[in-house]
Amino acid sequence: MWHETVREYLKFLLKILSNIMKLNPLYQERFDVRHNAPDNQQISEMLKMVKADSLEHLIDETIPKAIQLKKDLNLPEAQTEFEFLESFKEIAQKNQIFRSYIGLGYYNTHTPGVIQRNILENPGWYTAYTPYQAEIAQGRLEALINFQTMVIDLTGMEIANASLLDEGTAAAEAMSMFYGLRKGKKKSATVFFVDENTFPQTVDILKTRANPMGIELRFADLSQLDVTDPDIFGFYAQQINLKGEVIDLKPIIEAATENNIHSTIGADLLALTLLTPPGEMGADCVVGTSQRFGIPMGYGGPHAAYFATKEAYKRQVPGRIIGVSVDKEGNKAYRMALQTREQHIKKEKATSNICTAQVLLAIMSGMFGVYHGPVGLKKIAVRTHSLTKLLANGLTTLGYEVTNKNFFDTITVQLESEKLREKLHSILYERKINLNLTGTHTVSIALNETTRIHDIKELIEIFALVVDEDANKYSVEDKVDSLELDWPKQLIRESRFMEHPIFNQFHAEHEMLRYIKRLENKDLSLVHSMISLGSCTMKLNATAEMIPITWPEMAHIHPYAPKEQALGYREMFIKLENMLTEITGFAATSLQPNSGAQGEYAGLMVIRAYHQSRGDEHRNVTIVPSSAHGTNPASAVMAGMKVVITKCDDQGNIDLEDLKEKAEEYKNNLAALMVTYPSTHGVFEESIQEICQIVHDNGGQVYMDGANMNAQVGLTSPANIGADVCHLNLHKTFCIPHGGGGPGMGPICVAEHLEDFLPGNPLVPTGGNQAITAISAAPWGSASILAISYAYISMMGSQGLKKATQLAILNANYIKEKLAGSYPVLYTNQKGRAAHEMIIDCRAFKEFGVEVEDIAKRLMDYGYHSPTVSFPVPGTMMIEPTESESKMELDKFCTAMISIRKEIQEIADGKADTQQNVLKNAPHTMSVALAEKWELPYSREKAVFPLESVRQSKFWPSVSRIDSAYGDRNLMCSCIPVSEYEDKPEEAMA
Ligand SMILES: Cc1ncc(COP(=O)(O)O)c(C=O)c1O
Repeated sequence: MWHETVREYLKFLLKILSNIMKLNPLYQERFDVRHNAPDNQQISEMLKMVKADSLEHLIDETIPKAIQLKKDLNLPEAQTEFEFLESFKEIAQKNQIFRSYIGLGYYNTHTPGVIQRNILENPGWYTAYTPYQAEIAQGRLEALINFQTMVIDLTGMEIANASLLDEGTAAAEAMSMFYGLRKGKKKSATVFFVDENTFPQTVDILKTRANPMGIELRFADLSQLDVTDPDIFGFYAQQINLKGEVIDLKPIIEAATENNIHSTIGADLLALTLLTPPGEMGADCVVGTSQRFGIPMGYGGPHAAYFATKEAYKRQVPGRIIGVSVDKEGNKAYRMALQTREQHIKKEKATSNICTAQVLLAIMSGMFGVYHGPVGLKKIAVRTHSLTKLLANGLTTLGYEVTNKNFFDTITVQLESEKLREKLHSILYERKINLNLTGTHTVSIALNETTRIHDIKELIEIFALVVDEDANKYSVEDKVDSLELDWPKQLIRESRFMEHPIFNQFHAEHEMLRYIKRLENKDLSLVHSMISLGSCTMKLNATAEMIPITWPEMAHIHPYAPKEQALGYREMFIKLENMLTEITGFAATSLQPNSGAQGEYAGLMVIRAYHQSRGDEHRNVTIVPSSAHGTNPASAVMAGMKVVITKCDDQGNIDLEDLKEKAEEYKNNLAALMVTYPSTHGVFEESIQEICQIVHDNGGQVYMDGANMNAQVGLTSPANIGADVCHLNLHKTFCIPHGGGGPGMGPICVAEHLEDFLPGNPLVPTGGNQAITAISAAPWGSASILAISYAYISMMGSQGLKKATQLAILNANYIKEKLAGSYPVLYTNQKGRAAHEMIIDCRAFKEFGVEVEDIAKRLMDYGYHSPTVSFPVPGTMMIEPTESESKMELDKFCTAMISIRKEIQEIADGKADTQQNVLKNAPHTMSVALAEKWELPYSREKAVFPLESVRQSKFWPSVSRIDSAYGDRNLMCSCIPVSEYEDKPEEAMA
């Protein structure tokens, strides 16, 4: 018998060897095997564990047969990493980099190399998640506090948030915040006044946001604002307006304040180093972009907007605020402040839906401030202004009329005749220069950090040629020394800013490099271990996908550059739109929304426009299941909908009877149902088609929240389940890294009948034939990072993508099986299968005093980031491993979870104290573990090396358990003053 087995084995070995030796000139390395981590051996072991014969068998037991795709996705053939980079370079090179003086909120800037390489191009920074687990996120939290401090100082305001999606949406957020704050005599005021000299994209976004909320926008020159008008509750104006004029806002802000009108000012951070900040004039809110602080224009983004306001409005501030608190040892520690007011708690009472923002970009801009410091920033601003002055004087000497009285970096020049304009245009084109030619009889020129004397000489030369003048009439060199600042006194900033040591010590590159590294080392990201955050899809962000975003051809294109200069981008957009359209089964895609929540809002606004186009203006009810993510009802409210909640049954599915009842009750006004599929409970609901049918039968549209698309791609699709529109979180399923809380992208895909309403842009023709007004500031949102998703799909191809989905489902079911003996799984389908994520129930441990949070913190001692805590069910954890984790990593994670379960059992059995135990005291820092005194009833080893494998590569949390309540009671959202460190001076400098 035995020799037969040996013979078989030898035959098997020979077969393998002969396969290896067989010559094959056609061998191609494949990207999908790098992305999809489990190999065949691991897959078969895992299938055995989950008791499935094959991946297909598992999928048949997971996804209802009726909605499975009948054929493979029709996508271009998969490319290798090298093929992709080569072919994408060719596409990118179709973009032409002109020198851009267009302005409109986007400026050329130098990204300091030390920031580009060590943050933007560094997975240690870009693969982190939103800092929900603050103890292992102190690095990015500190970087965000720096950003907030910089914004607070520059704007002169009391508090600032940790970024918003773009300047236009920040202005709209301010408008809706003040609308929500109306009281007293202004309780029923509905007019928001907007200075007509505002950037066009901001105006368009304000229009989009105002209409469904019942806000009336009134546009006029700021001088026309009648502060005594009882209908006006707020106004918006830019400190430097569309034409580049610096406005003295103090009188108008003061008059408005006296009349209970809230003021929101758009301000330029670089200019604020020289200009009196709106905060010192009494402004209620200041918004803007931090793009010109080192962030490439990227044909529209991503960049971080900022939002600064008064402390009195802290509970209404949209987005996240980073605050200071203390840890268990009494050390200062950072965490997200006021989380209880986040939209997932407020749901339909929310005034904003912002979730993913622009963290990575805020970090970079904050670091730009740290690197240059106040003096460096001021020098850049002074140079920029000086050059603008030289230009203005030069053009005036040539006979042009510069219409500005006071300017910082932007001037507007009269250009009456069409002939001159054409001549100017053609010379500019030859010289590869862009100016802002959107004005009717004017041209605007906005200078920037990268502008130098020779650029000014060339601009003067060009304008001389246009009017056949001699450029030498004005010698730039001769004037350099005689320039003087001639702004009226009240415009000139006298106050100091950014005096905190953090902005005044890292100006040498070595110091900066080490500071960045020090912060990075405090954070746990995907470079350390799996981050199985349910609903967040923390998958591989492959290096080849990331490489193109910093190519100059991608980075240095202005979003309003003429379209001929962005042919590479346009080609990528079309290809990516086609790919996403195919994947969702729909008819068309808009790449504009900058996040999932913004996609929800865009989708609902499209649905709204559709109903209106059919004379169904009254359709304004949106049904949302009780298990929905908080952004769903918040987006519905913002889109002017009334939210009706429908129940879920004990299995976590939508309660069909309740849905039917609600749909029928509201059938005359039903606008939409928002449904997440597979559900936020991690299950493919069998009745999804019936659910969609019920909504359609009652006149509504189905909006599918695409956060869980990672369980659908290639196997089913939103169109197949019967939805009409969905968003895709490209920063989940399609590999854009989460950046510690953004950037993201949330394109929407729609069925044919909705295509006409896809969002447009005021300056660049985009969207449908009856496009709704803009959702975000740039026509294709954060265009540069779309290259990441395009790369992913191009390299995976149809088969790779399908396999990814199968493996995401296999990995989740494998974890479910492995943990089954230790933690009950809350929901599965009728065949006992989870989708791509699953919820484990930790509520029973409360009996022994163990909260789900304790498990989350203890995981840090094992080197893991916790899965999602208490969403969608309080007291549970939602685990989503994704396809990019190998069986080895899943096993390691499960071993940690099982080990923690044993630690819980020790408490249950009375072997460990109910208070002084490894869970309650977690995480354990190095300084706690190495302290001279150790009085805990368990060993130091057990605290920090709970498993042998942890000893091999230990991640040390930098602070102990943080007391969030303390921080909320004492809200502080700027850098810790040096005085706080008086007895620990070295920490203030660390
Ligand atoms: C189910 C679900 N819907 C919506 C969102 C919001 O997406 P974003 O953060 O991109 O705005 C999330 C975010 O995690 C989510 O999990």
